[in-house]
Amino acid sequence: MNKFFVSTPLGYELTTLAEMKECWPYLLGKDSKTHSLPFPEVEVLQGGLEFETELFAALQFNFFLKTANRVLLRMTSFRTKDLPKFYQKFKALPWKEYLAHGHVEWEVAAQKSRLNNEKRLQESAEKALSELFPKTEAKDFAGSIYIRMEEDLCTISLDATGEHLHKRGWSVLKGEAPLRETIAAYLLKEMIGEATPAEIREVTLLDPMMGAGTFLTEARSLWQGQFKRPFAFQKWKKAPKLFLSETFVFNYELPSSNMFKAFVGFDIEEKMLKVVSENFKEVERQIQFQEKADFKSTPLEVLHKNSMDTTWTGARPLWMVVNPPYGERLSSEGLGGLKGLAEAFCTNFKPQALGILFPDKERLQKAPIGYKVEKELKINNGGLRCLFTILTPL
Ligand SMILES: C[S@@+](CC[C@H](N)C(=O)[O-])C[C@H]1O[C@@H](n2cnc3c(N)ncnc32)[C@H](O)[C@@H]1O
Repeated sequence: MNKFFVSTPLGYELTTLAEMKECWPYLLGKDSKTHSLPFPEVEVLQGGLEFETELFAALQFNFFLKTANRVLLRMTSFRTKDLPKFYQKFKALPWKEYLAHGHVEWEVAAQKSRLNNEKRLQESAEKALSELFPKTEAKDFAGSIYIRMEEDLCTISLDATGEHLHKRGWSVLKGEAPLRETIAAYLLKEMIGEATPAEIREVTLLDPMMGAGTFLTEARSLWQGQFKRPFAFQKWKKAPKLFLSETFVFNYELPSSNMFKAFVGFDIEEKMLKVVSENFKEVERQIQFQEKADFKSTPLEVLHKNSMDTTWTGARPLWMVVNPPYGERLSSEGLGGLKGLAEAFCTNFKPQALGILFPDKERLQKAPIGYKVEKELKINNGGLRCLFTILTPL
């Protein structure tokens, strides 16, 4: 057993925990068949989840968690106020079992501690590593080591993820102010809430200001693994061989990925139609690779429209999710901020659920006629404090 930390954006912890529970029954064991390990006891911390389980199981969270930032393997944690002890403890760790050589990236953070000089901590760790791996000439990093010192408690971790988990490896084209995939997945999961898969399968999801279509591609892949991008642990000496093969994904017995009935997107910029179609096509191509003969495409319709002048007579029930442009552009189009938008969408489209992400200084004081505020979630969107407001019919 090893200890792990799944780091999440602040506030996402319980949603990520629910995701861990959701994918857990489908993970593979060492024999490449669905495993039967018990779900670990998880400690919910600010910004992440800590637990102990088998390395083999925890590494697979990289494939399935859509709201998490990364998965770290906890190497050790100990109290210290002096550098020689830190150096000794660092050097005694089993780095040689994991790292192919000593050229690594460092993430060092120290606060409220006697040892709060990050540079000195890194230098000391670098010295220890160079003694363990005297002949390192590699250009590629063998891994990333995280050192955190807080109130004299030192925690040393090895990153199992590599590039941040929001890099799904399928969004080929971007638009203006794209939403981070982890945020889109979190908001969608929050909208879905307690709705059952059978209910969701009836729903058409519309993003009336789709940009590059992050909501649509995330919704299409919400319950699907991401296997195409590389992960840091695949470079480890201890990496389970199974996850290095091209075809291990075929061992998963995952439920169908078709959850929403259909997707629709509008954008006032015509060029976004191609962007969204291409991104969606790539997501489906990757899902098709995994699902093979079981694969069924979900219909996507993208239209060049001004969503403020549009009504909707398409399939129902309809859910809407939208990340409008903020600031000048919106007001110059006379859309009247959050209040105007929410009213126009509820009147023109009559959705069964509407989720809008908007700067939180413009909180919706009153829901549009016939609707109520179901939930409000505080979201940090690229440094901007936003509120995700979910409206449902009264
Ligand atoms: C903030 S971006 C959306 C980003 C998107 N969520 C993503 O992740 O790529 C807003 C989008 O709304 C579009 N837009 C602005 N006003 C619009 C309108 N009245 N009707 C339809 N689309 C509009 C813009 O062209 C832009 O692509």
